[in-house]
Amino acid sequence: MAFVDWYPGYTVNNEQMDRDHQALFRAINDLREGTLEGRPEESLQKSFHFLRNYVIIHLEVEEKMLLEIGYPEFPEHKAAHEQLLHQMRIHEKLFNEGKKREAADLLSFLLKTWLVSHILSMDRAYGKFLATHRIGVSETKPSR
Ligand SMILES: [Fe+2]
Ligand SMILES: [Fe+2]
Repeated sequence: MAFVDWYPGYTVNNEQMDRDHQALFRAINDLREGTLEGRPEESLQKSFHFLRNYVIIHLEVEEKMLLEIGYPEFPEHKAAHEQLLHQMRIHEKLFNEGKKREAADLLSFLLKTWLVSHILSMDRAYGKFLATHRIGVSETKPSR
């Protein structure tokens, strides 16, 4: 079992977002393994920044999608994302100040707990909206 696993019950009824969430979990696991295995700081730096950038891009893409579909709870959702970004910046500062292992540890735990609870509550709420309004629900393809 990995540090954090994605389960089918985490689906938000949008393939791209599900793939993003899975990739984020993989990046969290990679950072976590990096700290546990005591990888060199250069390698830790790569994992840290990959994860940080991926989080930023995912939140942006998700917000863009929520705006496009006219999601009524967009402001609350965006505010939750902003809070995470704020917390992430604190860890990043610590990382840049040289406390790399400590910051990497904090970031992996923060993202594990934050993402799992955010996906299960707020992301799945838009998933329900997508399903109810049949947005992005592909029709069953005819079998050949
Ligand atoms: Fe979200
Ligand atoms: Fe998300």
